[in-house]
Amino acid sequence: MTVDEKPKPKPAVRKRANEIKSFRCKNLIAVIENPSDFKNIGTVIRNVNALGVEKAYVVDPHRRLPDDWQDMREQRNISGPSVSAVKWTFVKRFDNTDQCFDYLEGNNFTSIVTSPHVKGKTSIYLHEGDYTAYTKLAVWFGSEATGISDRAVERAEMCVSVPMFGMIESLNLGTSSGIVLYEVAKQRREYQSRYRMRNKRGERTEPLPTILPPRADR
Ligand SMILES: C[S@@+](CC[C@H](N)C(=O)[O-])C[C@H]1O[C@@H](n2cnc3c(N)ncnc32)[C@H](O)[C@@H]1O
Repeated sequence: MTVDEKPKPKPAVRKRANEIKSFRCKNLIAVIENPSDFKNIGTVIRNVNALGVEKAYVVDPHRRLPDDWQDMREQRNISGPSVSAVKWTFVKRFDNTDQCFDYLEGNNFTSIVTSPHVKGKTSIYLHEGDYTAYTKLAVWFGSEATGISDRAVERAEMCVSVPMFGMIESLNLGTSSGIVLYEVAKQRREYQSRYRMRNKRGERTEPLPTILPPRADR
């Protein structure tokens, strides 16, 4: 199919895409490290899209995802569980953890990892963090079975935990990514509504809105 033959988005879809643009958190990336279940990849991409995170990266050592985002968009076992969010959210795959860190650091991103356990040099609870302290931030989530890798912990700035009060060891990947990304994106959206990009001193005279009214179209 040539570019000219590609179906054009419907006007309502285009309108929504324009409305949400300024609410998306610039320079915020969610990284999923070695996920084993396609459903969870889809769920995290859905969270990324719904919560206004800019992109998703996947460390995929078993090469379960295609290299190209366009091919992922067409792949049913990703598009289905993501409820088509993969069509709207850019996803990039990496062969291993170091390759992803090298790429992020090459683009001046700071990484934080998440775990239900105390890990690394600095470990905090989610509500204790200031997630606006880094201009470019990547938030890592570990594998369902083994959690975040030692290598990721070693290369990350800190480890963030969602406090838990039950008998079980951890939250699942989809739930924890939703909780963590909600808090991180909320803080960064408030920040970018008040300040211009890359310049803390460039305060806007009028802050941008941080809430989009609920949809009335369905
Ligand atoms: C099912 S958990 C992995 C459990 C694994 N046994 C472990 O030691 O982490 C999958 C991922 O969800 C995230 N996660 C789960 N519970 C969390 C919590 N309470 N706080 C922060 N992240 C959590 C982490 O990224 C974790 O690697």
